[in-house]
Amino acid sequence: MDERERAEELAAAYEARLAADRDGRRAKGAFYTPPELVSWVLDRAVPPGARRVLDPACGTGHFLVAAARIVGVAGVFGSDLDAEAVAIARQRLAAEDPSVPVAQIERQVRVADGLTAWTGETFDAVVGNPPFLGQLKRGTAAAGARAHGLGAYTDTSAVFLHRSLDLVADGGTVALVQPLSVLAARDAAKVRTAVAGRGRVGELWVSEGAEFAGAAVRTCVPVVRVGEPGGQTEWGRLAAPHFGIPEVEMPRGTGVLGDLAACTADFRDQYYGLVPHVRDGGDGAPLVTTGLLEPGACEWGMRPTRFARRSYAAPVVDVAGLRAADARLGAWADARLVPKVVVAGQGRVIEAAADEHGAWLPSVPVVSVVPHDPADVWRVLAVLLAPPVVADAAARYLGAGLVPGSVKVSARQIAALPLPADETAWREGAALARAALLEELAGVMSAAYGCADPAVARWWLDRARRT
Ligand SMILES: C[S@@+](CC[C@H](N)C(=O)[O-])C[C@H]1O[C@@H](n2cnc3c(N)ncnc32)[C@H](O)[C@@H]1O
Repeated sequence: MDERERAEELAAAYEARLAADRDGRRAKGAFYTPPELVSWVLDRAVPPGARRVLDPACGTGHFLVAAARIVGVAGVFGSDLDAEAVAIARQRLAAEDPSVPVAQIERQVRVADGLTAWTGETFDAVVGNPPFLGQLKRGTAAAGARAHGLGAYTDTSAVFLHRSLDLVADGGTVALVQPLSVLAARDAAKVRTAVAGRGRVGELWVSEGAEFAGAAVRTCVPVVRVGEPGGQTEWGRLAAPHFGIPEVEMPRGTGVLGDLAACTADFRDQYYGLVPHVRDGGDGAPLVTTGLLEPGACEWGMRPTRFARRSYAAPVVDVAGLRAADARLGAWADARLVPKVVVAGQGRVIEAAADEHGAWLPSVPVVSVVPHDPADVWRVLAVLLAPPVVADAAARYLGAGLVPGSVKVSARQIAALPLPADETAWREGAALARAALLEELAGVMSAAYGCADPAVARWWLDRARRT
């Protein structure tokens, strides 16, 4: 066995040991990167002529060894908090090119915090797979994010991305593995804005499944071309083709749904306040849960649903009892018992149904969209069921949902959905929404938004039918 093989074997044994120690591995965020992904990243980030490549969380050095084969061992730099991993990375590099002095390799690959090391240095490329530690909300992760002026819940991997922008000159590239949620997570918004200010995401790699053994998280790699103009903050759009979401061009200046209606989400107070007043069947206001909502229909009373850990065949709220027990909640119920559209915040499409007579009460997290003019309920519903609106929202907010490829919209985002330009088609769409003729509605509302591509309506119908 030669030096190289011995070093490779050490790395494999170390990773196998880490894999066996589940908790330890999770705490370190140490899930190693498959070789195909390493090659994909280096093919894009390290062009011929590049000289200095950094992996700020290098582990046992998968990226470093592969990069050394392009730029030479003297051109690769790395850091990791794990001293044992660093020792293996050094050994692998030494085996790659024994002519490079060990002392030099030790300076290039350090036991150090990748979020603070390397200040003042510049690289042609920063690559790697930094730790994903957002879920743990560890003290150190939060402190690291705050030190960079980012929210405490920003995933550590996004903090690495933010930080790397300072380590690459114009013309260079940053390509770090990130959780898919970086595309749309609110906590990563500052990082996306910082990236857009420094360069452009040229390409995006998206994992087909959970890529790293043991880590149940979907990942992506935004390839940031530093210094290129045209930076964008809506990265979800780049990933949309991976999830079969058709591209649409939305009208501008036509106004937004919030002009027509108030969009409101309810909170825990309402949820817990309702619990003692909900019963199964009898008189009262039907309680609508997200599970009962379908595109264009509410299946209350047609199938059971769960509320507050119980199953109900037909849950109703005793509104008189609620008013008597709690004046504030009574006033809340009165405000909701008006003609409105109720929306489930997450689904394969936007699942919304019209409550024309104002008879239903929404259960958290159902969003209420209350038109200023009650006669507009069907027009509002037609907007929420319009295929281009849904395709655009699916792309913009991709990665926000628990299931990638599902559409997740908040009350604020619903209020920002654009209105159609073609009033006549919209009126026709409203009539079709009322008649629950989804196939016809899909075509007419696509036309209302000036979308001539039949694939968009087909995409929506296919998903709407499978909810
Ligand atoms: C997901 S592993 C990936 C390792 C390597 N990039 C690869 O793909 O083979 C992340 C590595 O980050 C290291 N790490 C965690 N926090 C760090 C920090 N603040 N600075 C540097 N490395 C860190 C862990 O020890 C682990 O080796």
